[in-house]
Amino acid sequence: MCGIVGYNGKNKAVNILLDGLEKLEYRGYDSAGIAIRDKEIEIFKAKGKLVNLKDKIADKELNGTCGIGHTRWATHGEPSENNAHPHSSNDGSITLVHNGIIENYHELIDKLKKHKYKFYSDTDTEVLTNLIDYYYKKYKMGPIDAINRTMVRTRGSYAIAVLFKDHPDEIWVARKDSPMIIGTNKDGTYLSSDVPAILKYTKKVYYIDNLEAACLKKDKVIFYNLNGDEIEKELKEIKWDISAAEKEGYEHFMIKEINEQPEVIKKTINNYIYKNKIDIYKSGITEEELKSFKQIYIVACGSAYHVGVCAQYVLEDLTRIPVRVEIASEFRYRRPILDKKGLVIIISQSGETADSLAALREAKSQGIKTLAIINVVGSSIAREADYVLYTLAGPEIAVATTKAFSTQLIVFYILAIEIARIKKKITERNYIELIEELENIPYKAKYILDNLTRGIQKIASKFSHTKDAFYIGRNLDYAISLEGSLKLKEVSYIHSEAYAAGELKHGTISLIEDNTLVIGIVTQEEVYEKTISNLVEVKSRGAYIIGIAAENIDVSKISDFALTIPKTNKYFYPSLSVIPLQLIAYYITIDRGLDVDKPRNLAKSVTVE
Ligand code: G6P
Repeated sequence: MCGIVGYNGKNKAVNILLDGLEKLEYRGYDSAGIAIRDKEIEIFKAKGKLVNLKDKIADKELNGTCGIGHTRWATHGEPSENNAHPHSSNDGSITLVHNGIIENYHELIDKLKKHKYKFYSDTDTEVLTNLIDYYYKKYKMGPIDAINRTMVRTRGSYAIAVLFKDHPDEIWVARKDSPMIIGTNKDGTYLSSDVPAILKYTKKVYYIDNLEAACLKKDKVIFYNLNGDEIEKELKEIKWDISAAEKEGYEHFMIKEINEQPEVIKKTINNYIYKNKIDIYKSGITEEELKSFKQIYIVACGSAYHVGVCAQYVLEDLTRIPVRVEIASEFRYRRPILDKKGLVIIISQSGETADSLAALREAKSQGIKTLAIINVVGSSIAREADYVLYTLAGPEIAVATTKAFSTQLIVFYILAIEIARIKKKITERNYIELIEELENIPYKAKYILDNLTRGIQKIASKFSHTKDAFYIGRNLDYAISLEGSLKLKEVSYIHSEAYAAGELKHGTISLIEDNTLVIGIVTQEEVYEKTISNLVEVKSRGAYIIGIAAENIDVSKISDFALTIPKTNKYFYPSLSVIPLQLIAYYITIDRGLDVDKPRNLAKSVTVE
């Protein structure tokens, strides 16, 4: 949540900052601001999307080569120009941008008020600027001392970038539980909350750890620990391709990312399967350990949680290990009783989701092994988990996840097949058959994109004014309904619900009336007749039915609009049925004229509770 950027080097900072903020807008878009240092520090802010800030500074000559920027997702204080970052200390000595939340800000404000500091915004951020200023002036021991004292005094999560008036040509940064990377090239040094913002300029980055700080000079970066001692950091290379963070001719990132699915699914499969053999052991986990787990807990948020729901069906069925799936924000506060012989799996695209990170720490504190399925290399969850299996989705920019979701599913299939093999729950022949069919998924996904997109685009316009939608299915079809429904509601703002088809009659069916949109997913052979009966029940109450069914199941008689997906193994259907569901959400939203990549009130990386 919130994105921060910074640049200190030979070139003009303004374009680098705006460019970076554009790439980070998925982290928040309530307001944006930059501070550029020429002789003096100049601050510009605007409410709303980045374009408003760009308009505001369009006629300004900004030659400074050092600056910081921010795009905001409001936590404390409404979205307004006054609450937008950067914030300055009372006398302008300190200018700062911040991502995260300061939990003890009331206490800190009281302390600072006693020292005559005044507060002009409703944010928790302003307290940081003044607290740094307070320590800087009180102890007169320089920026690192003031920053470290502030970190010690502050509770919460933060990544900050700070300009000290007395220290031209330097940007100071620090972090705790909010992401930040630092890049370098021959033209200068860069900081950002996330890789896409600096990918255009450099692939060489440093990861800064919790409670560490750094000083970005024009030609080098100096790192410090909480004692103020200089520390060494290793320069790492990012593997992502620059083009992956650009729209490349697509109208929106969401549709580009939907279309990238066959390729990233294939990449992820190839990363773990070679010549009909699964290898997940480079993560460090051993066969023996995998065999020993008596219970699996899957913990995640949002769409990643839906991956967990799908995975529960597949893992339990294939491996016969009991699986429990939990929403991370609930898991962390319910004092979970965990089986010491269990495994906690955290799923997260960003690797920074605050609740998922807290769930991981809860599991570790109970001495349970943790495995993370993560897309962003070097992210907090990836660094703290015992083992990591990466998804190879590349940078995902649209707020609503699509391709990361699909690669997470793939990693779970691979994990489930491998555990089933080790525990001898499947034969060698089943193992090979499952692998071979999994390797067909990218081609079947491509077939769906090539053949179903146009029809969905047409039907979507019919539903752009609908008020409610219901997604129903059984077993894995229910699991994927959850994702289809979330996708629609988060981007189109149409109310939608996913229901286990058999549960409809216990209440929700009373909402069905003439032309209510019901999307039925029917791929699971063992239960398909029962789902069809449920579809008949809603049809006879006037529902308009979009049926999404496997090739061998005929839903055309019951559906007003039927979509057929290729046949596959029962476990893998979610990877195929999710594609039409994503396309339905995308095209309905486009028809409604909404910003599909940046839905209101949402942020891609949720680093606050
Ligand atoms: C946000 C995103 C979702 C995502 C969820 C979890 O709500 O909009 O698309 O599923 O966070 O994010 P994570 O990075 O942990 O997968």
